[in-house]
Amino acid sequence: MTKPRSVVSILDLTTDEIEMLMNTADDIEADPEKYSSKCKGKILSTIFFEPSTRTRLSFESAMLSLGGSVISTADSKSSSAAKGESVSDTVRVISNYADIIVMRHPKEGAPVVAAMKSLVPVINAGDGGHFHPTQTLADLLTIRRTKGKLSGLTIGLCGDLMFGRTVHSLIEAMLRYPDNRYIMIAPNELRLPEYVRETLDKSGVNWEETESLEYAMPELDVLYMTRVQKERFFNEEDYIRLKDTYILDEEKLKSAKSDLSILHPLPRVNEISVAVDDDPRAKYFYQTLCGKQMRMSLIMLLLGIQ
Ligand code: NCD
Repeated sequence: MTKPRSVVSILDLTTDEIEMLMNTADDIEADPEKYSSKCKGKILSTIFFEPSTRTRLSFESAMLSLGGSVISTADSKSSSAAKGESVSDTVRVISNYADIIVMRHPKEGAPVVAAMKSLVPVINAGDGGHFHPTQTLADLLTIRRTKGKLSGLTIGLCGDLMFGRTVHSLIEAMLRYPDNRYIMIAPNELRLPEYVRETLDKSGVNWEETESLEYAMPELDVLYMTRVQKERFFNEEDYIRLKDTYILDEEKLKSAKSDLSILHPLPRVNEISVAVDDDPRAKYFYQTLCGKQMRMSLIMLLLGIQ
C-alpha cells in the first residue's frame, strides 16, 4: 500500500501547491456552492490533545462545508490517551474510522509519528512550540488578499517568537517568496529559537531583530502579532513579567502605514487593544475566514478530490 500524503510541516507542500490551494480558496470564496458536496461520504476526524477553539472548529466547519462528516474526541482527557495509549496506536485505529485525521499534540514531532503509522492522511494542527502549517496557509492567503502579493514586503513578527509555532511555520513559508524584509520584534528572552535563526541566516534574507515595536512600526507592510505562550513557560514569574511586553493600540499605530495589514493567529490575550478591532488595518478576524477556506482546499488536495 502506498503511504498516504500527510502535512506535518509547511515544507510538505510545494510553492506551486500552496499557490494552487490559494487559487482554490479564492474560487471557494467566489462560488461556495460548487464545493458543497465535494467530500460527500468522506469522514474527517479531529484528535486534539491540547486546547483549541478555532483550529478544530475551522477544520470541522471546512469539512461540513464540503459535504463531508466529522468525528472528534471532545478533549484529550476523555480519549484513551488518558489511559496511556500511544499516538501510533490511536492513529492506526482512527485510520479505520476516518478518511483523514487532523491532530494537535503538545509533543513536538508527535504528528511525524502519527503520519508514519496512519493509513490515511494526517494534518498537523500544531505540535508543541514547533509547527502549525495550516495556520500558515491562513496567514499566506490573508497577506495575498490584503496586500495583493507575497513578495517585496516588510514584515514585522512581534511577541513570543521563541515558543510561537505559527511564527516558525510562517517564516519557513515566506522564505520561498523573494525580496521580503523581516523585522523580528521580541524581548531578549523570547527571541527566535536557534534553528529558525540559522534558517534565516542561511537563506541570505534581509532580517533584523529589535525589542522596540515603535522602532519597527513605520517600516511595516504586515505586522504579525502573537500571544505570549503561557503554557510553554517553565515558571509563572517569567510569564507574568513578559506577558504584556507589547500591547498594540491606536496610539502606536499613528506612525504605521495607512495600508498596513495587522494579523494575529488568535487567541488574543492583551497584545492588541480591542479599540484596534475597528481600525480598517485589523485583519485578524478576516484571517479566520481565510483559514477555513484554505483548510477546505487542503482537505480536497490530500483526499485527491478535484
Ligand atoms: C495558535 C496556536 O495554537 O499555535 N492558535 C491557533 O491555532 N490559531 C496561536 C496561539 O495559541 O497563540
